[in-house]
Amino acid sequence: MSGPLVLGIETSCDETGVAVVDGLTVRSSVLASQTELHSRFGGVVPEVAARAHVESIRLLAHQALAAAGIHSDQLDAVAATQGPGLAGALMVGFAFAKTLAWSLGRPFFGVDHMEGHLFAPRLEYPDYAPPAVVLLASGGHSQVVLVKAWGKYETMGETIDDAAGEAFDKLARYIGLGYPGGPAIDRESESGDPNAVPFPRALRDRPYDLSFSGLKTSVVTYLDRARDDGSLPSRPDIAASIQEAIVDALVEKTFNAVDASGVQTVAGGGGVLANRRLRRRLTDEADQRGVRLFIPSPMLCTDNGAMVGAVAVQRMADGAAPTPWSADIDAGLRL
Ligand code: KG4
Ligand code: ZN
Repeated sequence: MSGPLVLGIETSCDETGVAVVDGLTVRSSVLASQTELHSRFGGVVPEVAARAHVESIRLLAHQALAAAGIHSDQLDAVAATQGPGLAGALMVGFAFAKTLAWSLGRPFFGVDHMEGHLFAPRLEYPDYAPPAVVLLASGGHSQVVLVKAWGKYETMGETIDDAAGEAFDKLARYIGLGYPGGPAIDRESESGDPNAVPFPRALRDRPYDLSFSGLKTSVVTYLDRARDDGSLPSRPDIAASIQEAIVDALVEKTFNAVDASGVQTVAGGGGVLANRRLRRRLTDEADQRGVRLFIPSPMLCTDNGAMVGAVAVQRMADGAAPTPWSADIDAGLRL
């Protein structure tokens, strides 16, 4: 697909992301990460996030256009994340994008953040097409989605408590690895034994749903006891064991859905899909079954503006109506 030229803006959490897509080709993608800003609080502070988006969005938009080698009046549309996410953070990108589109006389598209993650593999894999089972795992959401067609989704399973990324973040903090926890556990696990501690794999009786709050409790209980009786494993061993428990659950539920639905295509999106152990395990399972697997490169797994632009490109191809100017953000939006 070539053209339209769309500016995609993502500000749902702690990354300001702006990109220019030309159809499903990424022309430019720039990012301002707020990690350092939030790290001393041990997590994302909503008000701090919103202010940081305000400070960086205009410059990032300029950078994205310059890197793509275009002027704003060449844009065919502007898109921004509408939800789910942090209300104050969402407002910044949404209002900025709407204003820019309005002033250029171009359509504006409000995009579901999780649909963005679901679309991200399309920016690298032209063969990725429905029907597909897609694992979406981020800091706020974890779900296994059956994609019947672009825009037609059935959530087969989802977390009944914490999201996978949230589990990584909370447990990393608990074992002293700081924020953000996912990348920290990924790194720490490199030299650890994933079978050092057999943490429980929850919800064995519900084929597609996920749960991570029990894991949290059992990690805390286990470490308290091990500290008391002096049998504490090394931190890399603990990290690798935690990672294995989370990855096991995600892989098992995804392939339960693949087996039940009979689809031949599996994909993944969201920050947790940047996890190296998860990518390895999904690849092995897909190979074993002979199904095709599409996981974007890590930069496109975590939040970015290009995935937002990609959803708008599809909506334009479908002839969908733009989002009305009166529309507002929806922090609780569901796929
Ligand atoms: O999609 P995302 O960038 O933002 C949200 O929509 O939430 O996902 C962020 C989440 C965080 O919880 C972060 O710890 C996790 O993705 N994450 C990872 C890795 N990189 C990011 N989790 C495990 N391993 C990683 N390498
Ligand atoms: Zn995300």
